[in-house]
Amino acid sequence: MDLFVKKPMAQVMTEGDGEEHQLKRTLGAGSLVALGIGAIIGAGLFSLTGIAAGEHAGPAVVISFIIAAVGCAFAGMCYSELATMIPIAGSAYTYAYATLGELMAWIIGWDLVLEYAVGAAAVSVSWSRYVVSFLADLGIHLPARFTLCPFDTATLADGTHVSGLINLPAIFVISIISLLLMRGIRESARVNEVIVIIKVAVVLVFISVGVFFIKWANYTPFIPPNTGTFGEFGLSGIMRAAGVIFFAYIGFDTVSTAAQEAKNPQRDIPIGIIGSLAVCTVLYVVFAFVMTGMLNYQLMRGDAAPVATAINLTPFPWLQKLIKLGIISGFTSVILVLLLGQSRVFYSMSRDGLLPKLFSDIHPRWHTPWRSNLLFMVFVSLFSGFVPISKLGHMTSIGTLFAFIIVCAGVMVLRRLQPNTPRPYRTPGVPAVPVLGIVVCFAMMFSLGVETWLRLVVWLGLGLIVYFSYSRFHSKIAHSR
Ligand code: ALA
Repeated sequence: MDLFVKKPMAQVMTEGDGEEHQLKRTLGAGSLVALGIGAIIGAGLFSLTGIAAGEHAGPAVVISFIIAAVGCAFAGMCYSELATMIPIAGSAYTYAYATLGELMAWIIGWDLVLEYAVGAAAVSVSWSRYVVSFLADLGIHLPARFTLCPFDTATLADGTHVSGLINLPAIFVISIISLLLMRGIRESARVNEVIVIIKVAVVLVFISVGVFFIKWANYTPFIPPNTGTFGEFGLSGIMRAAGVIFFAYIGFDTVSTAAQEAKNPQRDIPIGIIGSLAVCTVLYVVFAFVMTGMLNYQLMRGDAAPVATAINLTPFPWLQKLIKLGIISGFTSVILVLLLGQSRVFYSMSRDGLLPKLFSDIHPRWHTPWRSNLLFMVFVSLFSGFVPISKLGHMTSIGTLFAFIIVCAGVMVLRRLQPNTPRPYRTPGVPAVPVLGIVVCFAMMFSLGVETWLRLVVWLGLGLIVYFSYSRFHSKIAHSR
């Protein structure tokens, strides 16, 4: 059987039309930009900025944000070209099927579980931390054993340590959002838009209040000298910090997974991808600049809630509760969009026969792949409840960077193999842009370390076992030849 069988472009294009239970086309350009921002601003900005500044880059974390944005911009342009050529729900998976063949498509689809499902788990853990902290502000103290995974410990007021058992708030948020998704995209997109407004408002309020409390001395040295260890300040620190805060940009590509639900995908998908990325880049750079100006980077070491610490330096501690509340709702929309992306990718893989049919069963009234949502609710909950956030975050980053690299390569391959296929949006400067995308993304992947690489290899190995024992025997394309 041909492992490199490609899905004919004509077939890819006609899929999704005239289906008995096709997904509804309800999303316009505004909704798509909101979908992107909803997926992008989250745990990366509100939790990792402080850690990246305190442990790796100092105030130069601002530069790290720019480096990561450049990598994402290159990949975003490539995503836009493929998403508008192939406006179908599967995203990078579908593009790989049409360009690089079935095996590569499978690898990407499997890899995207790291970005979407594991990413959602990572954010849910951070959500849980902020909820616990917010409730503590109100005098409600949840028991640490039920808010931390077994690998995390908390120090109690009397100085004793207690380890976690299960992270119940994280499981709770995953379950609620999965149920919402089962009810349908229209309702979900509306909820998402409201949350996006709150989230952007939180960032803007932080910036406009914080700017009055900047101490210019905090910017010296702007690039703290390297300590002698790779990744601890200096230039290598800036690069390591870029790998860490790359997580903050993950999500813009989920816009492309909604291509089948877009009213006018050719025009609106590039606007959704590039627009949401541009808005977030500006917000992030200014946010990081203000934060490192308010709070000396040396005080941020290990601080997963630097926003709260910085706001404490102002005469408005009441703002803290409000901002935490905004951050909590912001995380909610990230989880929502990531879980939405996950079910859409498996929907496409199932339609191609590479996964069992239950992943593409659409509910007759809700028009959603509800069985898939239900299954992922259980799968993601296992990660949310029992795995620490750092492991989840690194896995998400490496998996996503890998997908970005394949997308960049896909653009170049397709330009060569199918030069005449109409491209409503053309990536400028091919091959320079995709090649630079690959280089910058690989550099960030490299900075994530051996342990994370090993996990990626194990996950992909597992995927290959599933492919060779199930998928290749059920592939519709391979059997129709
Ligand atoms: N970019 C998303 C976040 O930072 C995944 O939470």
